[in-house]
This record gives sequence, structure tokens and C-alpha cells, in this order.
Amino acid sequence: MRLFVAIRLPEEMKDALVRAQNELYACGVRGNYTAEENLHLTLAFIGEVPDARPVLDALSALSFTPFDLSLEGMGCFGDLWWAGLKESAPLEALARKVRRALAEREIPYDRKRFSPHVTLIRKASGKLPGLQICQTSMTVTGISLMRSDRGKKGMIYTELGRVGYPAE
Ligand code: 2AM
Repeated sequence: MRLFVAIRLPEEMKDALVRAQNELYACGVRGNYTAEENLHLTLAFIGEVPDARPVLDALSALSFTPFDLSLEGMGCFGDLWWAGLKESAPLEALARKVRRALAEREIPYDRKRFSPHVTLIRKASGKLPGLQICQTSMTVTGISLMRSDRGKKGMIYTELGRVGYPAE
């Protein structure tokens, strides 16, 4: 199974992101738009593993204090366009903690530098227009272990476990 660790987003933030996607579409941008239910912030991409248990064990040993995160701006990695997050030391620290917990248990993960973003569209056509994104905030109370499966109509993400405080 293919796994990644993510922060799931509350409805209000997803609404702001969908509004941004709609504006892109209205500007003529075509591509693979991330489905609303799939919008998330990845902390670590693990990839294929035979068993989720060791990953859940690694994550369940983590602790952190809830913190606030805000959307800020849009950017792109080639034809993958994303919404950014306001710089956040607690977010960077949480990503480091997650990655350290995986490394300590010898669970492989993608070592690319953490660059916080929420993917809005893949294979986007044209050039990123200068659009604003609504400055919505959320409180991060937990992290989720997600399984990713390829469905008939796109990716299907399933939460296998969550670590943290009860969601607000
Ligand atoms: P992306 O949104 O920038 O593509 C599930 O695939 C999640 O893991 C996505 O958020 C994806 O990021 C992220 N991810 C990070 N590294 C990845 C990799 N090497 N392969 C696939 N997904 C990766």
C-alpha cells in the first residue's frame, strides 16, 4: 500500500481552496484539479510499504502542541500549482518530528526538502495568473496517516489513523 503523512484540512479552508480553483478555471486554466475531499498538506511521503502498523506505531509516539496555520499565496512546481502556507516554525518542527520518527524506525520516506503546499491542480495549462487566495486559518490538532489508491475517477485517499487532539 502507498502511504503518506498529512494534515487534513477543515471545510472552511477547503472552501477557500475550491474558490481559488474555480477562479483558475474561470481564467481558462485546464488540468487535473484536486478533488475537494483530497485537498491536504503532506508532511512526509512514504510510498509503498507492505504494512501500515509500524508507521502507525511511529506516529503514535509523537506529541505536539496545536498551532495555527494560514493560507498564503499560490505558486508552482512546473505544471503542478499549489496554495502556500504562511511561514510557520511549529509546522516545520512538526514535519521534522514526523520525519525523525520515521527515520528512527527505519521507515523509508521521500527525503526531498519539506516545502509546505496544498496541490490545487496537476498538469496545469498555461501560466499561473496573479490571483489572491483568501487568508483562511486553521488550528492543526492532528496528523493523519493516509493511504493512496488509484480509483477509476482519480486518487482515493483513506485515513488509516490519526494522532493528536480531538478535532475541533
Ligand atoms: P504533491 O501534492 O506535491 O504531488 C500523495 O501522493 C501526496 O504525497 C501528495 O500530496 C504528494 O505531493 C505527496 N508526495 C510527496 N512526494 C511524493 C512522491 N515522491 N510521489 C508521490 N507523491 C508525493
